[in-house]
Amino acid sequence: MDRSLEIVISEEKKSIPEPDKLGFGKYYTDHMFILDYTTEKGWHEPRIVPYQPITLDPAAKVFHYGQTVFEGLKAYRTQENRILLFRPDMNMKRLNRSNDRLSIPPLDGEFLIEALKKLVSIDKEWVPAAEGTSLYIRPFVIATEPTLGVNPSNHYKFMIIMSPVGSYYEEGIHPVKIYVEDHYVRAVPGGTGAAKTAGNYAAGLKAQEGATDKGYSQVLWLDGVERKYIEEVGSMNVFFKINGEVITPALNGSILDGITRDSVLQLLRHWGVPVSERRISIEELQQAYENGTLEEAFGTGTAAVISPVGELFWQGQKMVINNGETGELSKKLYDSLTSIQNGTQPDPFGWTIPVE
Ligand code: COI
Repeated sequence: MDRSLEIVISEEKKSIPEPDKLGFGKYYTDHMFILDYTTEKGWHEPRIVPYQPITLDPAAKVFHYGQTVFEGLKAYRTQENRILLFRPDMNMKRLNRSNDRLSIPPLDGEFLIEALKKLVSIDKEWVPAAEGTSLYIRPFVIATEPTLGVNPSNHYKFMIIMSPVGSYYEEGIHPVKIYVEDHYVRAVPGGTGAAKTAGNYAAGLKAQEGATDKGYSQVLWLDGVERKYIEEVGSMNVFFKINGEVITPALNGSILDGITRDSVLQLLRHWGVPVSERRISIEELQQAYENGTLEEAFGTGTAAVISPVGELFWQGQKMVINNGETGELSKKLYDSLTSIQNGTQPDPFGWTIPVE
């Protein structure tokens, strides 16, 4: 592909919000990255340009058939003012797996990481320093061909936009309350559940709305066939500590292969904590709750980091976990992961990539 990166620097600089005002995904940096695709030229014209709206034909396939994928990763500012990206190679691999599932042509992950480093470097003042903040990076692909036949697009745009963020949940690092969804489902075997594609999230909004109305932050999805086995939470993978063992649903093709999930599994194994990736049913969880062996629950995600779960609501029953407080292991995982990410602890796994 065409690897010559054109750079147009913005003449105007936006004001950077105060760290306590950030929230999640509300402000965008001064620049963005764009790459186009046509079947004739392949991926071409990579460029970094001032952040701006884009113009699309109303017939662009993405609007009608949802042919689109996205990623989420973060850059952190260290105490020595270095900027670190966390496992961007994993995002590029997953992006290509999602592309494949959505019939989108593959991207050159290595080139994109180089382009991303350049983009982050140009907007480096936007990487916040305060504890619990970071620069959230959103790469995504949209199908832009203006034709209404249901077939893969011949034209795409890949873009990267970036947003300084604080915590994803209003609760911050305090435990969230989760509603176990028993009516709607998110994914089925053979569907798109393992891909990071917009339709999975759109299909979850109705249940999310119901959970919010009942005072819960997110829904916990059960499998789409038996509505029995735990899959994932709206924007994160989920882990349970039962009787000293940490259990997370196995990657079964309908849940997302989370990068924070993988990092947590590696940390736990490194510490010698018993871990198992397997099917776990909501009944098993409820029994563990009843007999007092459900010790902790937490979610993992790039946006959510490690998010302790203080309460689960399932079919009329409230399960209050660890008295609704952050568990010891959840806290240790949060502290260890964030200290690797922001460079305050050594990175024995080689997860962080410096941006010059
Ligand atoms: C992420 O954690 O990066 C995600 O993609 C979750 C998002 C839907 C907020």
